[in-house]
Amino acid sequence: MLDLHCHILPGLDDGAETLGVSLEMAAAAASSGVEYIFATPHCNTHDARKNYRSPELIASYRRLQSTLDENGIPIRILSGAEILARGNFEAHLEADDFMTLNASRYLLLEFYFDEDPAYMEHCFRAVENASMVPVVAHPERYDCVQRSPELAELWVARGRVLQVNKGSILGELGEDAYLSAAVLLRRGLVSVIASDAHHFYYRNPHMGALLEALDRRFPEVDPEHLLRTVPMKIAKDQPL
Ligand SMILES: [Fe+2]
Repeated sequence: MLDLHCHILPGLDDGAETLGVSLEMAAAAASSGVEYIFATPHCNTHDARKNYRSPELIASYRRLQSTLDENGIPIRILSGAEILARGNFEAHLEADDFMTLNASRYLLLEFYFDEDPAYMEHCFRAVENASMVPVVAHPERYDCVQRSPELAELWVARGRVLQVNKGSILGELGEDAYLSAAVLLRRGLVSVIASDAHHFYYRNPHMGALLEALDRRFPEVDPEHLLRTVPMKIAKDQPL
């Protein structure tokens, strides 16, 4: 499997605090059948660490990979970032400051949970005008999608890719996120499921419970498609 969204890079955001935590996360993922992890630190948030494209950020993916190799943990790290679309978004987009997923056309975007759908549409168009494809991180967590799944339908019809969180499907991110994830899954609007892991115990990257929950509650969903086929196409910069 591939995990498209994971805060595994150490010390860059509210995910792994240390390299030791990164290694624990990678080992947990590997033990559940994950082979590739897109390292997607928060980018363009209000914190001190912005994680825009830089030689230091690029070196940090390589450093984690070397440490995994030295420790015999069979995970390939792919580059990426989770970009918060807010006021300064377009200036940074224009300056090419954002890391896409494994240097592909796909850009992982998140929004404030109470964001205005008109602003979201504006950001999607800006990304598309820059010849990139928006991948929407955890749409099931946004108020507007919880209120109106038809909005997600419109996004998919316009070519945007929806990534739902493992934690939402497991009910760990609240009832509203669970119910919204269930609607999106059952309507066939979801292209990818990812861990959005921040640690190795809470919000972890182990996929075992997810696969069980999909099998039990969402038999209409094909885990192979959402956890391997689609994220592999994204890694290879192929059209979906
Ligand atoms: Fe995230």
